[in-house]
Amino acid sequence: MSRKKIIAGNWKMNMTPTEAVELVNTLKPLVASDDVDVVFCVPAIDIIPAMEAAKGSNIHIGAENMYFEDKGAYTGEISPAMLKDAGVKYVVIGHSERREYFAETDETVNKKALKAFEYGITPIICCGESLTQREQGITIDWIRQQIKIAFLNIPAENAAKAVIAYEPIWAIGTGKVATTEQAQEVCQSIRSCIAEIYDEATAQAIRIQYGGSVSAGSAPELFAQPDIDGGLVGGASLKPEFGNIVNYKK
Ligand code: G3P
Repeated sequence: MSRKKIIAGNWKMNMTPTEAVELVNTLKPLVASDDVDVVFCVPAIDIIPAMEAAKGSNIHIGAENMYFEDKGAYTGEISPAMLKDAGVKYVVIGHSERREYFAETDETVNKKALKAFEYGITPIICCGESLTQREQGITIDWIRQQIKIAFLNIPAENAAKAVIAYEPIWAIGTGKVATTEQAQEVCQSIRSCIAEIYDEATAQAIRIQYGGSVSAGSAPELFAQPDIDGGLVGGASLKPEFGNIVNYKK
């Protein structure tokens, strides 16, 4: 089955609103492509200016997080209704940095994914193992558990629309990209896990990204793998190099 590639930048805690507009304007011509879905996941304060700057381009603006309640006394949080009203199409959920620093769990990931679908926002659901877990040989078991909990009570028709980002924690921000074989193996096991939870059609429809030190050099081989449908890119998404990653086939 051919799935349209989806290549997303995760800006993390970078770019003021002024810098965000400058970066979108710089990257707009470089990331022009009909072949892949291009998403810029930006800090909440940048969403509206980035959306404005991206108008008329192929760039979708996404968020880096959202809360799982509709509204209320959750100081500092952003609601799915706010993201929807701002025109946000995608939201990163369960990034390892949010798990590490902000007590995100598989259970809150599931709550956020359910809520994102309720508001018509596509979740980019992150999973990944630590170096210790890889060295212990429990990577696949760990990831399968993350996926099973993340997709609890999500119906097949929504799961098929979801994006999963496999990001080995030991490759994030380290310059140490997973080998093509490692990335393909885990993404294939994720797809198999989705087939077990739902069915083969859902497993073939869902898109699975690799993230973790993706560069213009590593993107072509990674994205050519049968079970890798694009990337979730951190550092390189803040530079003109991101255009080379989006246009990895050229
Ligand atoms: O979400 C993507 C991010 O975790 C990867 O960061 O800088 O290793 O591409 P980086």
